[in-house]
Amino acid sequence: MADKKVTTKTLKEMKKSGDKITMLTAYDALMAAQIEESGIDMILVGDSVANVLLGYKNTIPVTMEEMLHHCRAVTSAVKRALVVGDMPFMAYQVSGKDALKNAGRFLKEAGAEAVKLEGGSEVFEVIKKINDAGIPVMGHLGLTPQSINKFGGYGLRGGAEKEAKKIIEDAKGIEEAGAFSLVLEKIPAELATSITKTVNIPTIGIGAGVDCDGQVLVTHDMLGQFEKIKPKFSKRYAEIGSIAKKAYKQYIKEVKEKRFPDDQHSY
Ligand code: KIV
Repeated sequence: MADKKVTTKTLKEMKKSGDKITMLTAYDALMAAQIEESGIDMILVGDSVANVLLGYKNTIPVTMEEMLHHCRAVTSAVKRALVVGDMPFMAYQVSGKDALKNAGRFLKEAGAEAVKLEGGSEVFEVIKKINDAGIPVMGHLGLTPQSINKFGGYGLRGGAEKEAKKIIEDAKGIEEAGAFSLVLEKIPAELATSITKTVNIPTIGIGAGVDCDGQVLVTHDMLGQFEKIKPKFSKRYAEIGSIAKKAYKQYIKEVKEKRFPDDQHSY
C-alpha cells in the first residue's frame, strides 16, 4: 500500500474503510519530495502560496501562471501522492469555458491530477463541466479565502443554523456535480461530522474536527515557519521559523567575527 499510487479511487476506498486521508500543501520540489517521502496521500498546490510564499496579503492576486509554475515544481518531485492544483481567483468564476480551459492547463502544463475550487451552488455547473472532461475536482466549502472581501474576515463559517444548512446543501450538490472530494474549512466539528456522514465522497477537514475523512494543513503553518501567524486549527509540529532564524543569526555572527569559514570549511 505504501508505494502504491494514490488515485481518486484509492481515496473513495479509504473513506469506505475508515482509513484517514492525509494531505499537506507544497509549492516547491524540495518540500514536495520531503512530504512525499513521509508517506502523504495527497499534496495540494494551494493558492495559499500567495500569502505563504509570494508576500501577497491574501489569495486574491495569485495568477494562473504563478500557480502553474509552482505546480510544475511540485509534480516534478512527486510520484505516489495525488497532486491537486488549486484554481486561483477568477480562473473559474468568469465562464464555464474559461474554467475548463484553466483546469485543463493544470493537468497538461503542470502535471496535476486534479483541481480544487471554492464555492457552493454557484460552482455546481463548473464542477460538472470540468469533471465531464475527465478532470477530477475537489470542492471547498466553509471558509473560502477567495471570498474574503465578501465575508469581511476569516472567521468561523456555518455557526448559524441558516448558514450550516446552506453548507450541507452545497456539499450534497458538489457531490452530485461529480466532485471526488470536498475540503471543509473552519466550520463547527459537529457540522463537518454531519456532512461527512451525508456525502459519499471523502471530506478533508481543516479546522473542521476529527470526524472528517481526512485532514489538510498548510505545511508552513504546521512547521511553525511563521512566528506571528498561529491559526487555532493548525497544530505546530515544529518551530522551523525560530530554528532558521537562530541559524541565520549564528552565521552572521561567525562571518562578522571571522570564525567562518574555518579550516574545516576552507581549501
Ligand atoms: O490554498 C490552500 O492552502 C487551501 C487549504 C487551506 C485547503 O486551500
